Amino acid sequence: MLSKTIEEALNKQIRVEAESSQIYLAMACWAEVKGLEGVANFMFAQSDEEREHMLKLVKFVNERGGHAKISQLNAPNVTFKSFKEMFEKLFEHEVFVSQSINELVHISLQEKDYATHNFLQWYVAEQIEEEAVARTILDKINMIGDDKGGLYLFDRDIENLTVTTAAMNAPE
Ligand SMILES: [Fe+2]
Ligand SMILES: [Fe+2]
Repeated sequence: MLSKTIEEALNKQIRVEAESSQIYLAMACWAEVKGLEGVANFMFAQSDEEREHMLKLVKFVNERGGHAKISQLNAPNVTFKSFKEMFEKLFEHEVFVSQSINELVHISLQEKDYATHNFLQWYVAEQIEEEAVARTILDKINMIGDDKGGLYLFDRDIENLTVTTAAMNAPE
């Protein structure tokens, strides 16, 4: 059984994951209309993953005697100055999500809810992975700068990154 405090904290995270999914969907659309298919596909996949993160939390809350709350979401940014800016935003957002998960883990310990604490370890590991991927992409983008040819190759290569991360994040 979840305490009210834990239920509220988990519901807050459900919203964070739902907003992440929307943010990445908006990034996917922007990349697609800019003609970068590889980046768009990568972002569509990221958006799907965030929805999976949200659903995992929804199921957990409902199974543990709580009621998952599906709330209104903030509208994401839909345009970006550059791909560099877009990936900077992606990285910053993942760091924000990691902080949010850390806070949740902290609350679970305060509440002595070890079942929730155990459940959250999957998210802790996931955030390490997501931050690492975002950092790798950002490093590549910084190397490319304004080089059009570099961006073309990057767009082609990011597809492989999608495959690798999708395999690593396959739901158990
Ligand atoms: Fe997530
Ligand atoms: Fe994420």
